[in-house]
Amino acid sequence: MAYQLIHADCFDWMDDQNDASVTAIVTDPPYGVKEYTDIELEKQRKGKGGIWRIPPSFDGHARQALPRFSVINDDPQERENVYAYFLAWGKKAMRLLVPGGHLFIASTPLLSDIVSMAMREAGFERRGEIIRVVSTLRGGDRPKGAEIEFSETSVIPRGMWEPWGLYRKPLSEKTVAENLRKWNAGALRRENTNVPFCDLFPSQKTPKIERQIAPHPSIKPQGFLRRLVYASLPLGKGTILDPFAGSGSTLAAAAFFGLDSIGIEKDAVFYKMAVAAVPKLASLYPKALSHDRKMENDPGSGADLQFSSDFLREQA
Ligand SMILES: C[S@@+](CC[C@H](N)C(=O)[O-])C[C@H]1O[C@@H](n2cnc3c(N)ncnc32)[C@H](O)[C@@H]1O
Repeated sequence: MAYQLIHADCFDWMDDQNDASVTAIVTDPPYGVKEYTDIELEKQRKGKGGIWRIPPSFDGHARQALPRFSVINDDPQERENVYAYFLAWGKKAMRLLVPGGHLFIASTPLLSDIVSMAMREAGFERRGEIIRVVSTLRGGDRPKGAEIEFSETSVIPRGMWEPWGLYRKPLSEKTVAENLRKWNAGALRRENTNVPFCDLFPSQKTPKIERQIAPHPSIKPQGFLRRLVYASLPLGKGTILDPFAGSGSTLAAAAFFGLDSIGIEKDAVFYKMAVAAVPKLASLYPKALSHDRKMENDPGSGADLQFSSDFLREQA
């Protein structure tokens, strides 16, 4: 498996890399920006105070702290900070990507507009949005303190999907075909030759087995990430970067297909977690097949893939 995990701040690391040195970026950045600072992570690990949300224990089981995206939503200064953060990051990402390279970036319906403006300003073309259909258990509540009086209302929709912004660095060549020949980038890989790449992905909560291997508070499921990393290299050639690697789940998904990847994680605890987790996550579901046939009946299997590693090896 050709992957490299690096313990560093991605802003610094990216500055040291050559222009046009990665083919795709698949990443899930910190949205609260504050949530993954050393101070807030320390509070999260102690389970006390700070801006992490501790979900109510409605069935006797203690739940992991969740990032609280809503803390920044109403404050113009915080919105400005998020914009500035993603603009600075987006410019670095633009420089590193090859022309035609795609960026898949996880977001939230409350903030994807800000990220989108920052990415455009950084020079990216917006190429749409991938919808990961998954219940987040956020929102949907009645007005606080007046739940009975206004029992027929929800203050904000219950989250049932997660947007992943899709961006592309402009082509350097006249056509997509020429760009693909020169840079191995510019398009998205199909899972099946007869079906175009589609932007709606039925998904699931990250299965328990994956959360046990890597108990990161924001871990994404292999079933979903495998589909993204696969699509991100249109010819199956090049390097995928995840600058906010967390548990290493993107690298594990790339390793499943034998694709090259680099992950950067600045937190020492998560970095060590990722070092141990990547090979284990990559070896899960070795024969995962059709998600349309299996997912509804077997939501914990992580089998939401329309292809298997064997199938892909045959295509190579
Ligand atoms: C939302 S989590 C990613 C979780 C990941 N998708 C997974 O499945 O495990 C964001 C990660 O980025 C890391 N991070 C935050 N700022 C960073 C930076 N400047 N450089 C590198 N990593 C950073 C955080 O420590 C956190 O692990």
